[in-house]
Amino acid sequence: MTATIVPAGADSRVEADIDPTLDLEAEIGRLRRERNAVILAHYYQDGDIQDIADFVGDSLDLSRKAAATEADVIVFCGVRFMGEVAKILSPGKTVLIPDADAGCSLEESCRPADFRRWREAHPNHLALTYINCSAEVKALSDIVVTSSNAEAIVRQVPRDQPILFAPDRHLGAYVKRRTGRDDMVLWPGTCIIHELFSERELVKLRVAHPEAKVAAHPECPEPILALADHVGSTRMLLDYVKRADGDTFIIATEPHIIHQMEKAAPGKTFLPAPGADGRCDCANCPHMALNTLEKLYLALINDAPAVDLPEDLRRRALTPLQRMLDMSGPADAPRAA
Ligand code: 13P
Repeated sequence: MTATIVPAGADSRVEADIDPTLDLEAEIGRLRRERNAVILAHYYQDGDIQDIADFVGDSLDLSRKAAATEADVIVFCGVRFMGEVAKILSPGKTVLIPDADAGCSLEESCRPADFRRWREAHPNHLALTYINCSAEVKALSDIVVTSSNAEAIVRQVPRDQPILFAPDRHLGAYVKRRTGRDDMVLWPGTCIIHELFSERELVKLRVAHPEAKVAAHPECPEPILALADHVGSTRMLLDYVKRADGDTFIIATEPHIIHQMEKAAPGKTFLPAPGADGRCDCANCPHMALNTLEKLYLALINDAPAVDLPEDLRRRALTPLQRMLDMSGPADAPRAA
């Protein structure tokens, strides 16, 4: 029993049908009003999608928005597991995603059958699972976490309770270092994007810009995090560059968040962290990049691709997600269905 994405029907419109003179932004705005739709976008989306969205956020804030919205339709511009989270939290809504193929390397690294065996091999462990996983893996977990609350949630687990952490081993290792929870057993998954940053090239960039501060996502490997002035989720990195002293920041995460940073702190300079070839455009997420304004428009026209979840799976995946919302504070975290 798995989540399915209901594709567009045979008579649906495709990109080739779109009139090239159409004002896409205006049409999306019209359809959004007609359908009572809300457009949610992750910071890793193209700037034009971020600009048209009703809300741009990190995984936790987007989950909260999806749980609390009064819209009839949620268009989730991110990757597939994010659309699934919206459907788990808001089962009565239609949840559309612009491209059904927008996956996630972390999700791919953690197949439900393997995860189930791993759990069975550690019967006394509590399973904390990063939100970057399938609905099936969530349903097999005790508590879901995101990069903004993983440390705080681990700190709420009694010290004598051993923990399994999946699927991101870099985030898991970071939380382990921060909390001293040496008993945490880590799944060996990684994000293909955050693995691309080069420690050597980052050091060179810092030498070239001695005044620059480094802001890094905890999905980065430890040598990159060791060079960071600040580590946090995408929203935390955005908050940091807004309030921190200094004019220049090196950003070690998917570089589309720089669009939001430039809007929030227009006088500051943001340099994407480099890859092994020294280039600063290495870390564009190919999954996030599948979403376009055209596909967003078509999703609203075609009412597809739409996320569908068997109710039993949805309920089992909701329990660990709701625990996350309850353990995340502030107290305004909404209750889901
Ligand atoms: P956050 O949204 O928690 O910063 O995590 C980024 C990410 O992994 C998106 O897939």
